[in-house]
Amino acid sequence: MKDFKKNILITGGAGFIGSHLVRLLVNKYPEYRIINFDALTYAGNLENLRDIENASNYEFVKGNICSVSDIENVFKNFNIDSIIHLAAESHVDRSIENPNIFVETNIIGTVNLLNSCIKNWEAPFSSNLFYHISTDEVYGSLGDTGFFTEETSYDPKSPYSASKAASNHFVRAFSNTYKLPTKISNCSNNYGPNQFPEKLIPLCINNIKNNKPLPIYGEGLNIRDWLYVVDHAEAIDKIFHTGTLNSTYNIGGLNEWTNIALVMELCAVMDSKLGRAPGTSAKLITYVEDRKGHDMRYAIDADKLTRELKWAPKETFETGIRSTVNWYLENESWLGAVVSGSYQDYHQKMY
Ligand code: NAD
Ligand code: DAU
Repeated sequence: MKDFKKNILITGGAGFIGSHLVRLLVNKYPEYRIINFDALTYAGNLENLRDIENASNYEFVKGNICSVSDIENVFKNFNIDSIIHLAAESHVDRSIENPNIFVETNIIGTVNLLNSCIKNWEAPFSSNLFYHISTDEVYGSLGDTGFFTEETSYDPKSPYSASKAASNHFVRAFSNTYKLPTKISNCSNNYGPNQFPEKLIPLCINNIKNNKPLPIYGEGLNIRDWLYVVDHAEAIDKIFHTGTLNSTYNIGGLNEWTNIALVMELCAVMDSKLGRAPGTSAKLITYVEDRKGHDMRYAIDADKLTRELKWAPKETFETGIRSTVNWYLENESWLGAVVSGSYQDYHQKMY
């Protein structure tokens, strides 16, 4: 059997960001074996990885981070030396409906992985790394000015962000207590191909296409900082390889939009793509009840990442949003299967 230079476990690799990261690493580093460990919840979709599923340096393992035996098996079977941990419940609205699954997956699941690192790897862990993928939401909500830096205190305000902040704390605690080599990055809102259509941008693309209402929470004045998903995957690659051990990096697009301005822009792009008269899709905008405890503004200061690791996003929002719309319009079967739920038939047949 081929001897790989690294055996990297990627948790949550069948999800939105995870699948872009898996593709990047499989294609860029044939000398690494990439093991995608994913429970295939509603958010996991192996269709996202069809183009690389037969690559000789790629393995998929169906497994749950809430199951210690699933984790122990993958350590045993694949000689794992590094982990990039993305598996999580990721949708804020779902966390408001059912916080417990967020505690189980995002907190207990992360601690299960950390425990297995300590158990299976040997101190001083010189060839090991636990890299935790986190969110800007751990920092809470900003007013009109200012940015989140790596030093901003955690102040999570939703069950989702509280669970992610708790998992960040555990990663730091394992780094301090057991000297486990770790890295954490906190990223702003991602957009791009393969995002599950419960999130604002793909939800609106799908609804515009089908002439359905575009639900805007509250007054639509909340602000998010949007980053193209491939730029996030490239930042993760840089941090994994050259980031300082036991430190945190913020990742963001310096690209703030109010929700209403973003949806208006999407409507304009879609009108032009679908050959509709300007202003047609904007008529679908419908103001609805606000999200409970809705964070007002997120904005990331990514200066540390830019300065230390020379990372900068390659995609402008103008090009990124157009290629995202094109992708959803050209991949009707992906969207149709996700909306109807039929994408899970394949998972049930195969795993
Ligand atoms: P996603 O919801 O699209 O994907 C999550 C993946 O994790 C799915 O494939 C799912 O099957 C898997 N998963 C869920 N529970 C699991 C479990 N118990 N065991 C194993 N696998 C499980 O999420 P995403 O948007 O790609 O986010 C990935 C990570 O990045 C998350 O940790 C999220 O907090 C973080 N993040 C997301 C964004 C964003 O804008 N989407 C921004 C910053 C950080
Ligand atoms: O900031 C990073 C975070 O971004 C990630 O950690 C999360 O995993 C990811 O889901 C995302 O969280 P948000 O809550 O910001 O994303 P969402 O797409 O759900 O919502 C974006 C904004 O749009 C938010 O202010 C709520 C609003 N919204 C959302 C939906 C789904 C609406 O107005 N209407 C909607 O139907």
